[in-house]
Amino acid sequence: MRLWHQLLLALIPGTTLGQTVLDLNSDGWTVSSKALNISVPGRVPSQVHLDLLAANVIGNATLPYVVCYHGLNDFNLRWVADSNWTYTSKPIEGLKPKSKSSWLVFNGLDTFATIKFCDQFIGTTDNQFRQYTFDISDALKHCKGSPTISLEFGSATKIANDIAADPKSQTWPAGVQGIFEFPNRWFIRKEQSDFGWDWGPAFSPAGPWQNIYIAQFEGEGDAYVLNTDIDIYRKGQINHLAPDQTQPWIVNASIDYLGSLPKNPSMAIEIKELESGKLLKSESIDKVVLSGNTVIGTVIVDADAPNLWWPAGMGKQSLYNITVKVQSKDRDLASVTKRSGFRTIFLNRSNITEEQLAQGIAPGANWHFEVNGREFYAKGSNLIPPDAFWPRVTEAKMQRLFDAVVAGNQNMLRVWASGSYLPDFMYDLADERGILLWSEFQFSDALYPTDQPFLDNVAAEVVYNVRRVNHHPSLALWAGGNELESLMLPMAKDADPESYPALVGDYEHLFISLILPLVYENSRSISYMPSSTNNGFLEVDLSAPVPMTERYDNGTDAKGHYYGDADFYNYDSSTAFDFSGYPVNRFTNEFGYHSMPSLQTWRQAVDDEDLDFNSSTILLRNHHYPAGGPDTHNFKNTTKGMDEMTTAVKRYYPAPSKADPIGNFSAWCHATQLFQADMYKSEIQFYRRGSGMPERQLGALYWQLEDIWQAPTWAGIEYDGRWKVLHYTARDIFKPIIVSPFMDTKTGVLSVYVTSDLWEVAHGTVNLTWTDLSGTPITDNAGTPMTSQFSVGALNTTRIYETNVTNLPLDNPQDAILVMDITAQGHLPNAESKTPTTFTHRNQFTPAFAKDLELRDPQLKLSHDSQAGTFTVEASAVSLYTWLDYPAGVVGYFEDNAFTLLPGEKRTLRFVVQKDETGGKWVDGVSVRSLWDQTTGV
Ligand SMILES: *[C@@H]1O[C@H](CO)[C@@H](O)[C@H](O)[C@H]1NC(C)=O
Ligand SMILES: *[C@@H]1O[C@H](CO)[C@@H](O)[C@H](O)[C@H]1NC(C)=O
Ligand SMILES: *[C@@H]1O[C@H](CO)[C@@H](O)[C@H](O)[C@H]1NC(C)=O
Ligand SMILES: *[C@@H]1O[C@H](CO)[C@@H](O)[C@H](O)[C@H]1NC(C)=O
Ligand SMILES: *[C@@H]1O[C@H](CO)[C@@H](O)[C@H](O)[C@H]1NC(C)=O
Ligand SMILES: *[C@@H]1O[C@H](CO)[C@@H](O)[C@H](O)[C@H]1NC(C)=O
Repeated sequence: MRLWHQLLLALIPGTTLGQTVLDLNSDGWTVSSKALNISVPGRVPSQVHLDLLAANVIGNATLPYVVCYHGLNDFNLRWVADSNWTYTSKPIEGLKPKSKSSWLVFNGLDTFATIKFCDQFIGTTDNQFRQYTFDISDALKHCKGSPTISLEFGSATKIANDIAADPKSQTWPAGVQGIFEFPNRWFIRKEQSDFGWDWGPAFSPAGPWQNIYIAQFEGEGDAYVLNTDIDIYRKGQINHLAPDQTQPWIVNASIDYLGSLPKNPSMAIEIKELESGKLLKSESIDKVVLSGNTVIGTVIVDADAPNLWWPAGMGKQSLYNITVKVQSKDRDLASVTKRSGFRTIFLNRSNITEEQLAQGIAPGANWHFEVNGREFYAKGSNLIPPDAFWPRVTEAKMQRLFDAVVAGNQNMLRVWASGSYLPDFMYDLADERGILLWSEFQFSDALYPTDQPFLDNVAAEVVYNVRRVNHHPSLALWAGGNELESLMLPMAKDADPESYPALVGDYEHLFISLILPLVYENSRSISYMPSSTNNGFLEVDLSAPVPMTERYDNGTDAKGHYYGDADFYNYDSSTAFDFSGYPVNRFTNEFGYHSMPSLQTWRQAVDDEDLDFNSSTILLRNHHYPAGGPDTHNFKNTTKGMDEMTTAVKRYYPAPSKADPIGNFSAWCHATQLFQADMYKSEIQFYRRGSGMPERQLGALYWQLEDIWQAPTWAGIEYDGRWKVLHYTARDIFKPIIVSPFMDTKTGVLSVYVTSDLWEVAHGTVNLTWTDLSGTPITDNAGTPMTSQFSVGALNTTRIYETNVTNLPLDNPQDAILVMDITAQGHLPNAESKTPTTFTHRNQFTPAFAKDLELRDPQLKLSHDSQAGTFTVEASAVSLYTWLDYPAGVVGYFEDNAFTLLPGEKRTLRFVVQKDETGGKWVDGVSVRSLWDQTTGV
């Protein structure tokens, strides 16, 4: 297992010159609990659970996935969270005892640490997301014997409860705060999902989860770079207004350092294109600004000089090295290189203009993103923490995940509050791949305190993280938190109308008056909104006490006006495919339904005897609906969520009933994935069609991209990288040009639309083919034209066919399918080639639900060509949800899956291998099945 700290070593922020820097990231630490009489080897960066695991205290280290996540460890390991733990270093070698000054630098401590150096008290920390520095000069001078560091971590679960119990602490109306497992998370600045969420466990880890250094300085001119903010924006740009694309670029470099600089340092900035190695700019700046421990310099780059960075599917991801040197006379005092790019990204919330009205766009306000001045359709999903323990999140695993995002035709992820701010290497991966990261501050589904120490703590967290990630071109937005305006404030209003105005005041104090200016002061390039899911703002006045006036609910009920983005869940599966109930708005940033992971993934964490929908282990690993507190046996809430999955399956799909219990379990898991994928597809094609409707809908980000562990959740990608049906289906329906059926179940009217997110008109042909389920053509194609031509506008939709299904001459609607195939020619945005690209898409419509279809056995044949590395599937009857499966031990994806195959067709596909632990043997375990097999065989 390649650990995070090995990767971070290459990313030490800034070269350090006139000083000594000791890197304390290593083995050789000890983790201990006096009360529990445990002492085991530890390392930095790490967390207690991981070190206990490595020492076989909480399981078997040779099974790294299984152990922390095994069975009901979510509950059984609570003693780890409820205890205090001390990390002690081995004697530190290489320190200069006579240095003028010496500092400890922590890039992240999780969370409540008391720091001692040579047994002397140094300080305390209480925010997982901050970088901390402590002066240890005196402590070093008084050190007896070899210097050591100890970090005593208090139990976050206990400390949160202690704060809540303090009569001086803030209180809120009963029943409003979102509690999953451990309560009181809103009092502490720690990853909020560490206390449980409806898709994850509650381990509440503790430990030095990021790097630790000691920096020693001899005198003036010695500077250690703590953080760097590179802000690239168009001259005159203001965060909430559309940037002027004709203006030159401003590159503002700002370095936070430890140590001391001479009075009048200079700065040199060099900007070099990565691909060509060409120098874009090299300039020495005499007039730098020195402010506190920050040094700032600015250069101007001609408007058209750089190659622009574009998101995936919209052009190239041109990247530049920006090297900033702080100098004095001929000496380099500090030097930093950051990889960055030139782009503007803007969340447009301005009022709909006359010009837009004339185009048929409904009145209200915009709510969409513009990159380099261009509107685009945001296609993607929501990213949650990829593991309950960040130090074991490897770059290799995140590469596989982000490759799957791009392969899935996604261009944006919403980095949800309240996991953690992403490490730089994840932004780097997104920069390279063109994945926009809508990023959030870590506040979610709660009302938060507003006492001054809390606000000060948040301010430091915000400034550090905004500055740290601002240079990444993938950074798309800052949002204050999750579901605060759309869920928390309305709940507060219901619970206690009298204190509601004060609670809105608190909300605005923290998320607007405090955070907005901090974002604006540290970034001119990124838009800010106080909370995800909102109706935009009425006004921004930076001199007002509340600088952004949110629209809240104002005007949204005025008919035909649209203002904001939506977050939409409906667990009544009877209306899952009724698009008349879907939100009509400018953007949808959350929607979904949960499903089971595959059998292969369950087996990483659950013993075979527990593989049953009703086993305690499966039930209690399902956290929808959450226990709502520390109760480890709340079967009532989980049962409700499990029922939602099985009810949905029974309503629409053939219900598996296999003799072999594990075969039956596996078929049921798969069935829940079919429903999930179909429901998301139904919504995504509806939202995308909205790009050509009055609402001018320009974004669909579903909940959720990936899993934190093995459990029933909304994810499209399972914990180890295996794609659920959903990720394949989303990939298909996120293609640039799609064909989609829309069936109004009340009237029987079926409309077929072609939707495109290209930036130019595309032209094509659609084939509409009715057959029965054996594949025999239906007489006269049921009165439907076999083929027609269409053109579809830029970011638009066009209706290509409409009929009333009840009037169609179908002998047996349960033995009929309409297959829609399109082929279209068009240009991808910023395509280099003048030759148009050919786009194809297939969709299908059945007048009856899958469970009522008179399926025939498609007698699927699978062959493998080892030379070409391909698999070929053939069917002798219509094969629905044709599913290629692969064994455990390999991670990757088929080029297509869950597709409809007609008799006489051959599909030849590759499996893209991302990681193989089987030595190539996985090939022998590939199998194929379809809807037919859900109820047959073992
Ligand atoms: C850990 O698991 C491996 C693989 O199943 C097994 O060979 C080994 O004996 C186990 N070790 C312990 C200490 O249980
Ligand atoms: C655990 O740590 C906290 C402070 O972080 C301290 O207040 C408490 O006394 C400690 N508990 C024990 C049993 O040492
Ligand atoms: C860009 O910077 C990185 C890291 O400092 C360096 O490894 C790489 O060689 C640089 N590339 C160019 C083209 O200068
Ligand atoms: C936008 O429209 C709202 C009404 O919805 C109005 O209050 C506001 O002043 C308008 N803003 C601008 C900048 O015109
Ligand atoms: C409308 O906006 C005003 C000004 O921001 C605010 O005071 C009021 O509460 C809003 N009304 C609703 C219904 O949200
Ligand atoms: C879960 O169960 C608890 C206790 O029975 C209850 O108070 C809580 O409201 C439930 N939560 C949900 C989301 O159903």
